[in-house]
Amino acid sequence: MYSELVGHTISPEAVRARSPYALILSGGPASVYAEDAPQVDPRIFELGIPTLGICYGMQLMALDLGGRVDRTGVSEFGKTELRVEQSTTLLKDTPSEQTVWMSHRDCVVAAPDGARVIAGSASTPIAAFEAPERALYGVQFHPEVVHTPHGMSVLKNFLYEIADAPPVWTAAAVIEEQVERIRAQVGNERILCALSGGVDSAVAALLVHKAVGDQLTCVFVDHGLLRKDEAQQVVETFGEHFHVPLVHVEAQERFIDLLDGVSDPEQKRKIIGREFIRVFEDEARKLGDVDWLVQGTLYSDVIESGGTEGVAATIKSHHNVGGLPDDMKMKLVEPLRMLFKDEVRRVGEELGMPERMVWRQPFPGPGLAIRIIGAVTSERLAILRDADAILQEEVRRAGLYRELWQSFAVLPAIRSVGVQGDERTYGYPIAIRAVTSDDAMTADWARLPYDLIETISGRIVNEIPGVNRVVLDVTSKPPATIEWE
Ligand code: XMP
Repeated sequence: MYSELVGHTISPEAVRARSPYALILSGGPASVYAEDAPQVDPRIFELGIPTLGICYGMQLMALDLGGRVDRTGVSEFGKTELRVEQSTTLLKDTPSEQTVWMSHRDCVVAAPDGARVIAGSASTPIAAFEAPERALYGVQFHPEVVHTPHGMSVLKNFLYEIADAPPVWTAAAVIEEQVERIRAQVGNERILCALSGGVDSAVAALLVHKAVGDQLTCVFVDHGLLRKDEAQQVVETFGEHFHVPLVHVEAQERFIDLLDGVSDPEQKRKIIGREFIRVFEDEARKLGDVDWLVQGTLYSDVIESGGTEGVAATIKSHHNVGGLPDDMKMKLVEPLRMLFKDEVRRVGEELGMPERMVWRQPFPGPGLAIRIIGAVTSERLAILRDADAILQEEVRRAGLYRELWQSFAVLPAIRSVGVQGDERTYGYPIAIRAVTSDDAMTADWARLPYDLIETISGRIVNEIPGVNRVVLDVTSKPPATIEWE
């Protein structure tokens, strides 16, 4: 389903002008009685557009429509049992007793005029209400989180049954629309795209290539800090499989030379970022006049950078090596600007991109350089790359690759004593880092099965000369970060 985030200050006229099938008022941490509590213009509820209020959104709706919201003294956080009290389209095909995720202090204690209560929990008697004649619905729980097992049914009921919105925002439709848009935008001018090996730039490049074919040139700067076989995969996929004009810049030596003796993490990032831009600019210059640059900006980036009319609560400082110089005076093509990550992946699959690329875990721009603590040398890079390849292989074999936000090996700057083949060794340890996360802002260390850890550890110490110990990182974020540097 195509969706847009707009600020709560939007006017009813602006809502009507967009002619949405449905509106969802999101949750939020404020109390409706707080001084700066976000408000909506109550005339929005008179537009006849099916509207679902979630948590704070429900409370706001109740208050604006003549109901009452109170701080009852009982908060609900976490898993809660919900009782469905009336048969209703919103909760259709969900059990009469079900677990939902709650996170609130205030409660609706009187439903709005004309609304009927359709579900409650032990401490929140009005956990959902509806006023179908006015197309207004509210739920106190969070249907959008995985901890509400039937939440997706609630959202589907609301969108498909109540709002009668057709599920036409498919990968194929997105591709068709974007292809037309790109063609209209760039005409017959030339376009440049920097490929990083990650899913976003790859999908963006393929979309543009589908639209304008060889007007596109991709530049892939191989800084030598990628994982095993990654560079080769990019070249095979783009150059050989999709026949995208590709400049493969083998800049490994330039980067390793510049990193010689550098052990400060921020210094490494700066050097790699600067050099990346330099190499890219050199290549761009060689190509002559190019008017357009492809960027893999996602809708989440647009939201985070405040591009959705003041909706963004947090603005992330991006530290991506893919970031290109401000003074490259090129016009931007951003074919993923309206897509979330899962949609980008679906588009990638639809375009025939290999599974490995579509489902690649996030990988930092400075690559393995920030997973080698201390100085980066060719020898240490080779050790880490091999250890990491074993870890990846085993995580995939165990079927856990997609479940983990990131999983990787780290090479610390210490050595320890071991005994291998009756000989004393003084070798490197390898740390295993695997985390689950939704957005990298926080993360939990992954409880990998012991058998898997044993296999990884055994293979790493047996197959990689110079490594005699494997340790597991059991720290969440915070207090640790995901990366070690
Ligand atoms: P931390 O280590 O800060 O990482 O918990 C959060 C997420 O950001 C990624 N990361 C980077 N990505 N350039 C990038 O493109 C960087 O310098 C960088 N540092 C961290 C990290 O892999 C994780 O997904």
